[in-house]
Amino acid sequence: MKTEACIFDLDGVIVDTAKYHFRAWKRLAEQLGIEFNERDNERLKGVSRMASLEIILELGRVQLSQGKKEYFATLKNGWYNEYINKMKPDELLPGSIEFINEVKNAGIHVAIGSASKNTPLILERVGIHDMFDAIADGNIVSKAKPDPEVFLKAAEMLNTDPSKCVVFEDAVAGILAARNAGMLCIGIGSSQVLKEADMVVRGLNEMSLEKLKNLEEKIS
Ligand code: G6P
Ligand code: MG
Repeated sequence: MKTEACIFDLDGVIVDTAKYHFRAWKRLAEQLGIEFNERDNERLKGVSRMASLEIILELGRVQLSQGKKEYFATLKNGWYNEYINKMKPDELLPGSIEFINEVKNAGIHVAIGSASKNTPLILERVGIHDMFDAIADGNIVSKAKPDPEVFLKAAEMLNTDPSKCVVFEDAVAGILAARNAGMLCIGIGSSQVLKEADMVVRGLNEMSLEKLKNLEEKIS
């Protein structure tokens, strides 16, 4: 197998936005009288906005009408936007730009595959919007990871066969989505958690073109 495209999840792979999601969800949970801690927040990684709200409501055994759910999801997003609006390029995770540039220089296409509807805003704030050949995000997909839709969409936008794509993901649901898309997947985080990945590194600062080539050889 020879990699023709690398597809990067955004939150937790290129930027660390989990802390901002947590602060905004925590504020909402408090308003709703629901207890919510950092451990619960782990369950929201890679999960869409509405599905995240559902998890929080379930934790507090709170039931709301569809209209109220939409109202609270929008309220949370407003608070979250206050944080991401202030993001600067120094919030890029270590090694991310270097690795993306390394693969680009080797002629490999690069895309974003993220559930977040805030993807364009975040990329703009950290100054990397123009680095990518394609951006598949929560604004153009309807099915959440582990459904492969977002990664298949990215491959289609790059005009690349899914079997020639490698995904970089920090969430279990995202790794399953990559597998469901028939793509290789490199987990970003702990190998104890990301068991389904073809290989795991702690961050993109541990990645290199050489490691990618080694993985290709191992697979074929
Ligand atoms: C990413 C994050 C999730 C978040 C989702 C939707 O996948 O890991 O925690 O819920 O995006 O984000 P959004 O910016 O659209 O609310
Ligand atoms: Mg992620």
